Amino acid sequence: MTEPFVKIRNLVKTFDTPAGPLNVLCGIDLDVVKGDFVALVGPSGSGKTTFLNMVTGIDAPTAGMILVDDIDVVNTHQRSLTRWRGRNIGIVFQFFQLLPTMTVLQNVRVPMDFCDVYEPRDRHERAMALLERLDIADQAHKTPDMLSGGQQQRAAIARALATDPPLIVADEPTGNLDRMSAQNVFNIFSEIREQGRTVIVVTHDRELASDVPHMMLLIDGLLEATTFEAAARRRTQEMHTARLRAEERRKSTQEMDALKGQ
Ligand SMILES: Nc1ncnc2c1ncn2[C@@H]1O[C@H](COP(=O)(O)OP(=O)(O)OP(=O)(O)O)[C@@H](O)[C@H]1O
Ligand SMILES: [Mg+2]
Repeated sequence: MTEPFVKIRNLVKTFDTPAGPLNVLCGIDLDVVKGDFVALVGPSGSGKTTFLNMVTGIDAPTAGMILVDDIDVVNTHQRSLTRWRGRNIGIVFQFFQLLPTMTVLQNVRVPMDFCDVYEPRDRHERAMALLERLDIADQAHKTPDMLSGGQQQRAAIARALATDPPLIVADEPTGNLDRMSAQNVFNIFSEIREQGRTVIVVTHDRELASDVPHMMLLIDGLLEATTFEAAARRRTQEMHTARLRAEERRKSTQEMDALKGQ
């Protein structure tokens, strides 16, 4: 059997907050094979971004093991990890994180310069080709603050693809896009996957995700395989239970107040 490209065991993340420890990830196990396309869904605040930050080594877990292409993401020194990450993981951040003083074209070129991939003379052309692929070549010479949210998002996707990394990790990469642009982004991810790259994407878009081979639901700090329909059913059930609990609390407060008034 082939070894998984991403191998996660007993991943735990607890944040210290003023209100006490917050257990966000509670012992996640996951294998993602090379060339897989995984969509990660889950309610807001369930820990999707936290999870991606662990996989990319941007943040450290409280406990657990993460191997990406046999690299020990948790225990590798930050300095070597940063260089390795630049070559091996293309990250689309939920809030883009484009460098504000650089043009869009420079933003897309930066990872190639930083990691010294592609010949320097070819980098400009590659960056432009990526911007064209994302349909924003006409924005190349502007700074990110001059772009709409959707244009910034597409620039961030172009940047993530710049070094042609074996793993793409994208945090709601189509949240700001119209249907056609969003479909285009998923088509690009599918093409990348067909070339043997691995894609992990957080999304709320059920229509787009319906074509994704694997869907995982992050809930109560754990991951489970799901379909959008099952995830939606579960969410509806949870909302129903929460409403019933709130109603019970309201009634018991009213009864207490009535007793106090007697
Ligand atoms: N640095 C931090 N310190 C304390 N708590 C944090 C920190 N980062 C995230 N959290 C908390 O962890 C939980 C998960 O946050 P996270 O951003 O991973 O959720 P998410 O699933 O990505 O949500 P969304 O869909 O809204 O983007 C939230 O309750 C959040 O408040
Ligand atoms: Mg998030």
